[in-house]
Amino acid sequence: MQNLKKHGPKAEAATSANTKIEPATGKLGIMVVGLGAVATTMIAGVEAVRRGLAKPIGSLTQMGTIRLGKRTDNRSPLIKDFVPLADLNDIVFAGWDIFEDNVYESAAHAKVLEKKTLEELKPYLETIKPLPAVFDQHYVKRLHGTHLKKGRNKLDLAGQVRADIRAFKKSVDRVVMIWCGSTEIFLEPSAVHRSLEAFEKGLETNDAGIAPSQIYAYAALSEGVPFANGAPNLTVDIPALIDLSKRNGAPICGKDFKTGQTFMKTVLAPAFKARLLGVSGWYSTNILGNRDGEVLDDPESFKTKEESKLGSLEHIFQPELHPDLYKDIYHKVRINYYPPRGDNKEGWDNIDIFGWLGYPMQIKVDFLCRDSILAAPIALDLCLFLDLAKRTAELRNIGIQEWLSFYLKSPQTVPGLYPEHDLFIQSMKLKNTLRHIMGEDLITHLGLEYYD
Ligand SMILES: NC(=O)c1ccc[n+]([C@@H]2O[C@H](COP(=O)([O-])OP(=O)(O)OC[C@H]3O[C@@H](n4cnc5c(N)ncnc54)[C@H](O)[C@@H]3O)[C@@H](O)[C@H]2O)c1
Repeated sequence: MQNLKKHGPKAEAATSANTKIEPATGKLGIMVVGLGAVATTMIAGVEAVRRGLAKPIGSLTQMGTIRLGKRTDNRSPLIKDFVPLADLNDIVFAGWDIFEDNVYESAAHAKVLEKKTLEELKPYLETIKPLPAVFDQHYVKRLHGTHLKKGRNKLDLAGQVRADIRAFKKSVDRVVMIWCGSTEIFLEPSAVHRSLEAFEKGLETNDAGIAPSQIYAYAALSEGVPFANGAPNLTVDIPALIDLSKRNGAPICGKDFKTGQTFMKTVLAPAFKARLLGVSGWYSTNILGNRDGEVLDDPESFKTKEESKLGSLEHIFQPELHPDLYKDIYHKVRINYYPPRGDNKEGWDNIDIFGWLGYPMQIKVDFLCRDSILAAPIALDLCLFLDLAKRTAELRNIGIQEWLSFYLKSPQTVPGLYPEHDLFIQSMKLKNTLRHIMGEDLITHLGLEYYD
């Protein structure tokens, strides 16, 4: 316990020789792009927790613990008491949307939270009104925005977002930005993304390779503001913005909240691989009836999501190392827009596996989940951890925060490095990063010392 005392939540943590973490003093501004189902569920949830009306279930930063030292040491503090994170009471929200609805109206439209809860929070939620958005229907075919910025070109629009950030900065001490906006059409990295110079030129010439999400990200990183991406959009997964992130000490991470089906996949697949059970097919389908489902009904937006959802299995199974078990997996992912279910998605998985001597077996998963209830704590944790990264000397300038892969369907890594999708490796990576920046021993789970 002695060691813990020096890690008070707000204290400046002087830890290992090259690591220093600035304290989380003052207000943290969270700027949310897209005040739809996920964003309003996060904002209303934070306010409900602040008022003691509910618990922040699903949030590692709020409820998670971290083991320090040996199992016999009995040191497992709350993560928020171990690393200096912003307190929920110090968070201030702002955001943009293509519709004028305030957060109360938008939350009521999303129908995730009960009326009674929303009524209780109404006076607060009504005060959060979206700023006009950067939007172009070319990139999200199913939406018709009405609350939009106008500009000479994309550079001018980025300048307007930067002005919004600067104005918000006057009322808070630090800012992070998170994309909770819609899934854009599938974009592949191209010449305009290759360098910051090319990207800035492309902003000026309105290059079609630059989507609205990239205009927001460019604005954030230019202002030194960390950026998280809840959607599968290409956004910061390009050399130009990785470079900007490093130059300006504005951390970034991967994309697409890992909530329902992919969360399950990255739990089950590592189990099959650990036991060397083969897999011949994995069929995943979903029904979903919220606005996200409507956007994903457009084939171009679905393609972006499909790529993100398909990525995990191959990296977990490593078929090149285990051709007898995983070489010929048939992997299919479908999403069907089905309005009666609203935000309450149902995801089915049929998994065809095989065991000893090749005998086949089947596993069925039917996950009746609530999309935004699963996504809200992830969005909150990403904001709090990116703010921590920004205040941590050793993390601030490295750009991609691979340790946040835990939360994302498409983790981001340095070019050439394969991503870790296994949820338990990701969890260990996250917690070991926290131990490392706080100067604690890493946990290897070897455990021989108990038997000396
Ligand atoms: N809920 C989940 O479980 C989950 C999981 C992974 C990823 N996601 C992704 O998170 C995002 C948000 O999901 P949601 O359920 O809240 O969707 P939603 O449709 O309810 O909300 C998206 C909001 O973004 C706004 N928007 C779209 N383009 C914008 C722009 N350019 N600028 C500002 N606002 C813009 C829309 O008007 C809408 O209010 C989606 O991309 C979704 O694919 C959600």
